[in-house]
Parts: sequence; C-alpha cells; structure tokens
Amino acid sequence: MCGIIGFTGYSEAKNVLLEGLEALEYRGYDSAGIAFFHGDRVNTIKTTGKVSSLRDKVLLSAETMSTCGIGHTRWATHGGVTDTNSHPHTFGRVTLIHNGIIENYHELELELADAGKYPVSQTDTEIAAMLIDSLYEGDAIAAIKKAIARLDGAYAFCILFSEEPEVIYCIRNGSPLVACHAKEGSVIASDMVALIKYSREYFVLPELHIARLTKENITVTDLNETVITPKMLYVNWDVTAAQKGGYPHFMLKEIHEQPESLRSTIIPRIKNKQLPDFSADGIPEQIFDGINRVIIAACGTAMHAGLVGKVMMERLLRIPVTVEIASEFRYQDPIIDETTLVITISQSGETADTLAALRLANEHHATTLSVVNVKGSSIARESDYVLYTHAGPEIAVASTKAYTAQLSCLYLIAYHFALIKGTITETECISNIEELQSVIPAVEKTLDLAEDINKICANLKDKEDIFFIGRGLDYALSCEGSIKLKEISYIHSEAYAAGELKHGTLSLVTTGIPVIALATQSGIYNKMISNIKEVRAREAFVILITNGNAKVDSSICDYHITLPELADNMAPFTTAVVLQLLAYYTSVHRGLNVDQPRNLAKSVTVE
Ligand code: M6R
Repeated sequence: MCGIIGFTGYSEAKNVLLEGLEALEYRGYDSAGIAFFHGDRVNTIKTTGKVSSLRDKVLLSAETMSTCGIGHTRWATHGGVTDTNSHPHTFGRVTLIHNGIIENYHELELELADAGKYPVSQTDTEIAAMLIDSLYEGDAIAAIKKAIARLDGAYAFCILFSEEPEVIYCIRNGSPLVACHAKEGSVIASDMVALIKYSREYFVLPELHIARLTKENITVTDLNETVITPKMLYVNWDVTAAQKGGYPHFMLKEIHEQPESLRSTIIPRIKNKQLPDFSADGIPEQIFDGINRVIIAACGTAMHAGLVGKVMMERLLRIPVTVEIASEFRYQDPIIDETTLVITISQSGETADTLAALRLANEHHATTLSVVNVKGSSIARESDYVLYTHAGPEIAVASTKAYTAQLSCLYLIAYHFALIKGTITETECISNIEELQSVIPAVEKTLDLAEDINKICANLKDKEDIFFIGRGLDYALSCEGSIKLKEISYIHSEAYAAGELKHGTLSLVTTGIPVIALATQSGIYNKMISNIKEVRAREAFVILITNGNAKVDSSICDYHITLPELADNMAPFTTAVVLQLLAYYTSVHRGLNVDQPRNLAKSVTVE
C-alpha cells in the first residue's frame, strides 16, 4: 500500500526521494509525489501513474537544489486517482504525506468548514493537514499532539512546517515507519527496503511517538515530550536482496530463492541436527503448557499457510486447531481464553486485519505467537512470542518464498509442541525433522521443472476460468494455487475440495475448462483419481500434479507434472513451487505486470 520516504541531509533530497519511491514501488500504488524545501518555500510535484512519470516531471521542473523533503506513493482509498488527490498535501504552513485512513475525517471537515476552511482534494489526508495547520501556533510538536488527540484511525505522517526548513516531523499509529541516521543524513520510510541503501541499522518509530529529523540526528519523544532511545534493529540482508539480480521479475527471483529461505528458516531451529529448538528465538517450552486449543488467524496466502498448519497440528497434537480469516475473526465474538494459543501469520507483519485479530487475542489473555517475516513489525512487536521466517525481503506482491517459509515454521511449531505434549516420541520427532530438511533439496529439484511448466502455461493464457482441485493438504494447496493465479493473471479461478465438485461446481466444468488436479497424498490418491475422472468425463483439460512415483493412467490428464519423491506431508512445499510457477508463467504469457498486479498492494495496512 502507500509508501513513505523522508530525507533531510547533505545530498540532493529529490534524488533520495525518487530512489526511495522506486524502492517502494512494489507495495502497489497509483500516484506519486514529492515535496521539498527550497529555502523556506515548499515545492510540491505530484502525478498520477508511475514514479518514472514523477521523475520526468521533476526533471522538467526548474532545477532547484534541496536537502530536505518527503515523498509518497498513493494507493487510493478516499477520492479517485487524480493529481490533486495525490500526496503531499499542503495547507497553510503544513505539508504532509500520510499512510493509513483517518476514520473521522468527515466530522473534522465539517468543523473546519465552520471556520471557513475547505479542502481542494477529496482525501482524508488533506483534512489532517488542515487540522494540524489550524492547531499550529509556532510549536510543531504541540500542534501534532493536539491534532492526534482529534484523529481516529490508523496513520503514519511525515510533516514539513514551512517555518522550520530542513526539519521533518513524523508520528505513527498503526501504520509502520522505520528510520535511520547515516552519513548522508536522516532517512525515514514506510519500510526498510527504502532505507537499506543508507544503513542496515535502523529503528521502528514506536507508536504515538514523535520523531524529529534533522541533518545531524533524529530525536524521538513520547507524548509527554520525554526523549526516548529507540531499540536499534539490524537487517541481515543487503541492497542486492531487494534487487532483481538478473531475473526478469522479482516474483521469479523469489520463487528461486526458496531453497535458501527454507534453509535459513529451518536449520537454525534444529538442535544437534535432530530436534526442534526455539531457545534462540526466546520461545520457552512452557508456552505450550495447558494449551488445549489453537487458533490460526491470517489473511490471503498467509491464511492458506495456516490451512496446511491446521492439518499438520491436528494430526500431531490431537487438539482442535481452527484457521480464521483475520478480517472475519474479529467480528465473530470468538471463543478465546488463556488456554488458547493464537498463531498469527504475516509476511509484512503489518496487515491491519491480522494485527486487529492479534490485539483481540491479547485482550482475551491468549498466548500469542506470530510467524512474521519483517523484523520489528507491528505484529512481531505485539505478540507474546515471534518465530521469524528468514525469507529476506519479498518484493513481488504475490507471496512465494514467504509462504513456504511460513509452512516450515508451522511444521516446526507442530513438531516442537507435539514433542513437549508427548503426542509424538523423540524418535518420531527426529524422523519428522529429517523429512522436513529433505524439502530443501526437493524444492531445488522442483525448480528444474520451470521450463516445462512455462510450456504448459501457453495453454492457459487465453482461458477465462480455471479450477484447482485437491483433498486434504492438496485442498489447502489448491486454495493457494488459485489465489496466486488470479492475483497476477487476472483469470478467474476457484479452488474446490475435489469431493465437493459434484455438489454444485461440476456444472461449470465443460469441454476445455482447465482443471489443475493435485494428487500428492497417497492415502486419498484413488479417491482423487475418481474425482479427476469425473471432470475428464466432462472433457476438462486436466493438468495433474503427483508426488514421486505415483502410477498414473495417462488418459486421465493432458499434462502430468511429477514432483520429486517426498513424504506425503512434505509435498505442500514442492507443490507450492509448481503452483507459483504456473501462475507466474501464465501471467508472463498474458503480458501482464507480474510483480505489481492491478488494484493490489503488498502490505495491506487498511481494514
Ligand atoms: O503481509 P501478509 O502476509 O499479512 O499479507 C497477507 C496477504 O495480503 C497476502 O498474503 C496476499 O494474499 C498475497 N498478495 C498473496 O500472494
């Protein structure tokens, strides 16, 4: 979603801002803008469309040197995609950019209208600029504090006051902001990807704290104006991790990074190469004591990882495990108490609905454990415990390496918890861990299928509907295959539990309709084959995916993709890679913007 960058320092701010916005492009946006000081005047340049158009506009504008400014990529929520609605917004002495949503903007707008003040845009953001300006009496921090007392909703603001050139003020509530001070000056952004060029060391601006950025330093104060020292964090990846590295798209690069991200996520959590060990993650074994129920809450692909986690945990733990769509969970008065373990899963760690679900679980005194990729993110900070996925930065909107890393964390949790609970023996656990490690070379081998899959996708590119079917773990993977395909290829697709087809959906299966059939589970293989025969009898175009050496009657499918042989439980890892490649190459054949699909954002920070 919207991206933020702010810089004050010793080099040309416009360059820093444009480069920062380019780094943030992956988040999804529809317009972009920057504002920078020229003397005590604030110049603003903004446009709908891409950062490259903004760059052109900046180049055309009269050349002015600036060392302080703010930049934004907007993903429209309030008001259409227009130059006027793009950020930054200026009112009086205040210029600002904003991520999030001001929920009570209309009420504030009416109040400001009573005072004869009217916005020119349709945005909630401009109302915030007007409010801060109306409360400003020469003291920026006092104005910000008064304003936030009036604002409802989520926000991250970077604010310029024309009376304080070269200074940026920032505050956040629910939307992320990270900052660093480097030799070039002070930089703040909505995510680390825009900072990494300057420093690997950074801090997350604590909620409802004000950061004051000058060339020399960054001062952080709480709302009592007490200076605090934020906790410094360190990223173990460098700027090249957030670049395409020779691949045509980030998504393809990230698909290929999966052996490495799985290795980094799994191996450090295995003690003496045998048993799971979360002590380095600060997760004591006692957290599992007395737990008699697990709830997994997440959105989108992360929720699909939860579907796999549920199957694995219920099998091993013999206690109920439910998977909840986070945006639904919070409004359903869920049953949670101190005997519940709530696991939230999120790549970004900032998904608003998942964060809200976590807060609800915390309020009900559940034990909360999150599986998160971004260090120091809101979900990580607000959970009792965190098991980080070490997938590195995921730039493509379609989640790939984060998903398989999430799966690996959920398997580790299942094994660890089951061992502590005594529902598996040490010997069983050792053999489970061996199986889990075997997915790393198997995923590597699966990547060799890329070219074959590319060819198969030529058959899919002109289709309007595609179905994914599977049973058990394969049904969970079908859900993931379907979301991946639809989000980047714009082809309508549905995932069905294969046995459910004949209760309605089979009426949609006609000649040539593609059905991607997952049959990796030996225990239900024959049942699955019967379901494939049902769609075959309706002349569906079948792409069959099986695990290892399954015996297949070639007449039941048009294409057969054989995964490297793995234990059934481990097939989700290799299946995921095939489904990602199917989605990727279909999108490429259709000539679409794979990494930044229309209407979607990488980090969904609004509810
Ligand atoms: O950052 P999160 O993992 O919390 O994001 C959740 C979903 O928005 C995300 O997985 C989304 O479904 C992906 N674009 C799917 O590829």
